[in-house]
Amino acid sequence: MSELQPNKTILRLELPTDPRWVNIAEKNIEEILVDHAYCEQKAATSAISLIVKYPDKTKLVDELTDLVAEEWSHFERVLEQLKKRGYGLGRNRPDEYVVQLSKHIRKGDKRERQLMDHLLVNALIEARSCERFKLLWKNIADEELQKFYYELMVSEAGHYVSFVKLAKEYMPAEVVDARFKELLQIESDIIRNLEPRPDRMH
Ligand SMILES: [Fe+2]
Ligand SMILES: [Fe+2]
Repeated sequence: MSELQPNKTILRLELPTDPRWVNIAEKNIEEILVDHAYCEQKAATSAISLIVKYPDKTKLVDELTDLVAEEWSHFERVLEQLKKRGYGLGRNRPDEYVVQLSKHIRKGDKRERQLMDHLLVNALIEARSCERFKLLWKNIADEELQKFYYELMVSEAGHYVSFVKLAKEYMPAEVVDARFKELLQIESDIIRNLEPRPDRMH
């Protein structure tokens, strides 16, 4: 398998995940898979809400329509992994990381600015998920799950790039870069203050 390994240079995340996380996650794979299933579901619904809100942005509608299909197929694949292991989907749970990050999507009458923030927050969630999938791929013993997380890592890295590119379709590149720098800092502060949990992807 040729190895695509997103690193800090590509993902630009300021703070790596606490290395303890992957060990506790592996011991709680049922909880992690359930949480992961909801992450994929939320990724799909978040992209749908952008399509609904910005129907005039043709490129966004086209690209996110493809992305929704991919996220939904990820959701199906996580469900399959759950079923194989005799687990159910379980209840939805709040994603504190996403809740805190989403508070930085500035509201108000500046429609393009809000869109940029939303796209960049989505890009960061993709980047962090990609980083976590890489840890799972590299560290867990289950070979089937290793392959699964490798494939998802590659896919989410592509989504990360697409969200940043889309932001630059609708706002000047220098504005997007400056805002992304701020959000990268915010994201690392959120990660620093969140205790690594055995039952959460983030
Ligand atoms: Fe996904
Ligand atoms: Fe994604």
